[in-house]
Amino acid sequence: MTFTPPSFPTFLVGKIHTEFTGKVFIYWLGTEPFLYIAEPELVKKMSTHVMAKCWGKPNVFKDDRYPMFGTGLVMAEGHHWVRHRHLIAPAFSPLNLKSVASRMVDCANEMIMRWSTQINNSAAAAAGGNGVIIDVEKEIIETSGEIIAKTCFGGTQDEDAKQVLQKLRALQTALFKSTRYVGVPFGRFFNVKKTLEANKLGAEIDRLLFSVIRARKESKNDDGIDLLGLLMNGGGGGGGGGVGNDVLTEREVVDECKTFFFGGHETTALAITWTLMLLALHPHWQIQLRHEIFQLLPHHNNNPFLHINLLSRLKKMQWVMNEALRLYPPAPNVQRQAREDIQIEGLMVPKGTNMWIDVVAMHHDKELWGEDANEFKPERFMEDVNGGCKHKMGYLPFGFGGRMCVGRNLTFMEYKIVLTLVLSKFSFKLSTSYHHSPSIMLSLRPSHGLPLVVQPL
Ligand code: HEM
Repeated sequence: MTFTPPSFPTFLVGKIHTEFTGKVFIYWLGTEPFLYIAEPELVKKMSTHVMAKCWGKPNVFKDDRYPMFGTGLVMAEGHHWVRHRHLIAPAFSPLNLKSVASRMVDCANEMIMRWSTQINNSAAAAAGGNGVIIDVEKEIIETSGEIIAKTCFGGTQDEDAKQVLQKLRALQTALFKSTRYVGVPFGRFFNVKKTLEANKLGAEIDRLLFSVIRARKESKNDDGIDLLGLLMNGGGGGGGGGVGNDVLTEREVVDECKTFFFGGHETTALAITWTLMLLALHPHWQIQLRHEIFQLLPHHNNNPFLHINLLSRLKKMQWVMNEALRLYPPAPNVQRQAREDIQIEGLMVPKGTNMWIDVVAMHHDKELWGEDANEFKPERFMEDVNGGCKHKMGYLPFGFGGRMCVGRNLTFMEYKIVLTLVLSKFSFKLSTSYHHSPSIMLSLRPSHGLPLVVQPL
């Protein structure tokens, strides 16, 4: 089929030939053409028929997000991306991550202590009443922030890490909570105050991270057991993961740290948050997971023994995680921009065209998942890692192809550790004050937090 939108200047992007109407269409953000894609077959063709270097990240978002990610891996392209990916990926190998498991356990236990204190201080809960209401989203985001800080800096610069996190969150609000004029020429000047605020916060975060790196260099504490150590040593932590003698420059390490801090804590926290919302709604799954934890992990005084090698035993927890990531993918869309004219079979995507791959839409598509697409059914992942989706590119919580999330092993570990510890201590019900309103502020999050009634077991 040939599709030429009425106001589409063909001299700019040519004719779009597509057989996928409805799930593939064109829209504009200001002067920027976007190809909307909720069709997995097209995503498959994009990633198999076309060289990865032909795709970049949309320039229109780059300026906007620069203070947050700099030129870190999420925004990198071409040779720069290849070099960084080779240097960084080994830092996330299961072997390197082993050393951070105990830090995750410590952070999760601190959160559990806070909740227990709150419950003990509440007269009603102490008398066996209804538990206390806790904004679980806020708590988990804080804990996940501590975890990524300790994973990055090994707990040696806690105060700096806290400040980086606070400033990154303020930066996210400055960038994404105000009206933005993406694609509108000179749009950034319509919101000068917010743009200046974002740039100032970005510069402050850079200064903090530069000082952390320099302090680390001077202290000669380069045992490489945290991400910063691994990055400064060339990614492999002395284990030969880097490319030759190549190492990242200080500026590059700063940008990667920012990327990990932001990309690494909020997404994982949201995966846990949405899971707890779903478990609160489906108490029989809470019971099943608790049963699995108590059956399959060794225990001491009702405390599960968490060893990284044992986490893979928690199969039901894995199905629940997959299903939560399907219904509420923390990264709700993936974007690309064509760096040259690209022919994908019948479809001609002219250079400069942006692409918006709608992960949420594909994850809820009844043609792919069946009539129960909107229901919480973790068992769909029992036999099939793709949850029975009719197309293997229809389930993309961690992206696709060579740009698949580099930090997913860290997420699996953190998710299972935090969930195991909280489910072993508490049960959860949805508070009547919860207002279901998922919204996209870069990631997919509950607009009004997640108040849950938390009861000790
Ligand atoms: C539930 C948790 C997570 C989700 C849903 C998630 C999702 C994603 C997605 C969809 C992409 C692909 C983006 C694209 O193709 O444009 C991606 C890439 C990336 N993620 Fe994650 N992520 C998670 C956790 C993490 C963690 C824990 C880290 C690091 C500490 C991390 C760091 C990155 C980086 C650096 C990239 C860029 C990879 C590249 O372009 O080569 N992510 N993530």
